[in-house]
Amino acid sequence: MQRQLIPKRLNSDRSYISPIVLPGRGISRKIRCPIIQSPLAGVTDQIFRQLVRKWAPEALLFTEMVNATSLELGFGSNKMKEIEEEKGPIGVQIFDHRPDAMIKAAQKAEASGAFLIDINMGCPVKKIAKKGGGSGLIREPKLAEKIVKNVCDAVKIPVTVKTRLGWCEETADPIAFARRMQDAGAQMITMHGRTRKQGFSGNANWEAIAQIKSHLDIPIIANGDITNVEEAIKCFEITNADGLMVGRGSLGSPWLVGQIYSELRGQNIIKTPTAKMKIKLSLEHLEKLLSKKGDHGLLIARKHLSWTCKGFAGSAELRKNLLRAQTPQEAIRILEKELIKN
Ligand SMILES: Cc1cc2nc3c(=O)[nH]c(=O)nc-3n(C[C@H](O)[C@H](O)[C@H](O)COP(=O)(O)O)c2cc1C
Repeated sequence: MQRQLIPKRLNSDRSYISPIVLPGRGISRKIRCPIIQSPLAGVTDQIFRQLVRKWAPEALLFTEMVNATSLELGFGSNKMKEIEEEKGPIGVQIFDHRPDAMIKAAQKAEASGAFLIDINMGCPVKKIAKKGGGSGLIREPKLAEKIVKNVCDAVKIPVTVKTRLGWCEETADPIAFARRMQDAGAQMITMHGRTRKQGFSGNANWEAIAQIKSHLDIPIIANGDITNVEEAIKCFEITNADGLMVGRGSLGSPWLVGQIYSELRGQNIIKTPTAKMKIKLSLEHLEKLLSKKGDHGLLIARKHLSWTCKGFAGSAELRKNLLRAQTPQEAIRILEKELIKN
């Protein structure tokens, strides 16, 4: 289904890019760039964030979601530790159904230098939602409220919530849910314009996000289907949101957040990388992963390389060859050879 509303190009009187200030409880934060990189499990690790930063130095980025119970058991703390070394604002996203574990996770994240704590109330994965974590919290508003309250009381930095329109269309009441999270202390809500039942399919419902925005006092970030500046402008126009979060559009395209932000500012327009730049970027991504993870880096790199090496002559063949590469050296050779051709 095509969206009907086609707003005019950016009108310089209308600023879509005002900073967002979150008061925190002792430590306030200013989000200077309201185009935000979403947390993406298996994608937004430290190396991906470094790449996003090249184009979007000021943008708010996120860790992949951190399981608070695993953290208590001693796993996954590297996802937080890593941010100590990084420049620029990084939010730590935590998930669980246990308030005590969430408190401890939030405190650890704050101690590691998190810019803010985001509570995941949108993850559709069955084994997480079944226990009441991620999107499961939408069906347990009392527990969701308790988690937000407890986490807010435990840290000084702002606490935010990322959620969906509801569990399914039949039971969805996103305005009531968002207001409850606001009243519990959440200082910003990111709304993915789909229900849990929809998963990632169909169009995100930006009109529903507009409705929620009009009932909230705290800033709202619209999420879902932002893949270029035109969609970003449409989404701002429809939702009146305070900011936008870019998700799958950035898979293989770590420049996207910076590109949208720069185009909204009407300056330093970042062009979509050429074939040569994409191949160079792939080499850089692969080499960074190899130097951090050893040969295992190749396995992690494969999906990124196939996402990035797209949309240019010979890219299908290149992807096939990269997938077949048995060793990191072979993958590097393939990319270097392709670079000479371009
Ligand atoms: C591979 C993948 C991993 C994701 N991981 C997370 C995550 O860790 N935390 C989260 O809140 N959302 C996660 N999401 C959801 C996205 O952040 C985003 O809300 C969703 O993809 C909708 O935005 P989009 O239509 O721009 O992709 C993930 C989505 C994908 C496709």
